[in-house]
Amino acid sequence: MLRLGEKISAAEITPEAVYLERRRFMLGGAALALSALSGLGHAGCEHGNIPASSEPLTDIDAATHHNNYYEFSTDKKSVSRLAKDFNPRPWTVAVSGEVRKPKTYDIDELTRLVHPEERIYRLRCVEGWSMVVPWLGIPLCEVLRRADPTGKAKFVEFVSIKKPESMPGQRYASLSWPYTEGLRIDEAMHPLTMLVFGMYGKPLPNQNGAPLRLVVPWKYGFKSIKAIAQIRLVENQPLTSWSRSAPREYGFYANVNPAVAHPRWSQRRETRLGELSKRDTLPFNGYAEQVAPLYQGMDLVANF
Ligand code: MTE
Repeated sequence: MLRLGEKISAAEITPEAVYLERRRFMLGGAALALSALSGLGHAGCEHGNIPASSEPLTDIDAATHHNNYYEFSTDKKSVSRLAKDFNPRPWTVAVSGEVRKPKTYDIDELTRLVHPEERIYRLRCVEGWSMVVPWLGIPLCEVLRRADPTGKAKFVEFVSIKKPESMPGQRYASLSWPYTEGLRIDEAMHPLTMLVFGMYGKPLPNQNGAPLRLVVPWKYGFKSIKAIAQIRLVENQPLTSWSRSAPREYGFYANVNPAVAHPRWSQRRETRLGELSKRDTLPFNGYAEQVAPLYQGMDLVANF
C-alpha cells in the first residue's frame, strides 16, 4: 500500500488478488484512515466530507474492457486492444489561463504534488451503465490552488491530447478533437473532484485514460475526461466536445439526474457492469449530500 508522500511505481504494485483480499478487510477503516491523512499536506483544500463506500467493487476486468474512449474507437469492447500500445510517457500537463502562476508539470511531478488518495467512487455513464472503482489520485483543488486563480477564473476547461498517429479514432470526425470538457470553478474546486492516475492500486490503464484523467463522480461519465494535456482557467463557460456535437443531448452540467431523460432514453435506471438486473439511478449519482448545495436555486432541468 502507499505510504505518505510516496509515488506509485511499478515495483510497488500489489498483485490484484492480494489487493482485493486486503480491501475486503480495509473497507470499514478506509474512511477513518483517509480522514486522518487528510490533515496532512492539504492546507487550503477542504476534504471534510468524503463519503465511504461499502458497495462491492466492479470486477477489474469489466471496468477495463468496457470503455468509452472515442480517440481509439466508438466500440467499447475494442478500446482496450486499440489503446494497448499508446505511450503515456513523456507527458506534460499545462495549467494556464486566468492564473497568477501558470505552470507546465511533468506528469510524474504532478502525481507527486501531494500524497495520493484512494477513493471508491461510482461512475455512471450517460448511456446507462455504471461501475464502482477504487480510484487513485489527488484532489484537483490541490493543482488549481497552486496556480493561484485570478478573480476572472470562473470556469475550468480541460483539453485531452491530440495524437492521431497513435489514436486511430481521431482520424474520424466522431467528435471534434481534441476532446474538451469543462467545469464551473466551484465544481472543479470541490473536494470530491479528483485528478486520477491509478485504479485498483495500479497505474491507470491506457483504455481508462492514462496517464491522467478527471473523475467527477456526481456527473455523467463523459465529464470525466481522459488523457488530460491542458487545464485552462477561463472567464466564460467553455464549449465542450459533447455539447458541440449534440447540444440538445449533452448539457454543460451533466449532473446525474434520474428525473431528466436524455432525449432518446430514460435516465431512471442503470446497469452495474457485471450485474444483470438494473437498479435505480440516484440524484447526483448518490452524492447529493456533498454536492447539491452547489446548485441551490438553479433550474436543473434547464441546466441539464
Ligand atoms: N475522455 C476522452 N478523452 N475521450 C472520450 O471519448 N469518454 C467519456 C469519458 N472520458 C471519453 C473521455 C465517457 S462518455 C465515459 S462514460 C468515460 O470516459 C468512460 O470511462 P471508463 O472507460 O474509464 O469507464
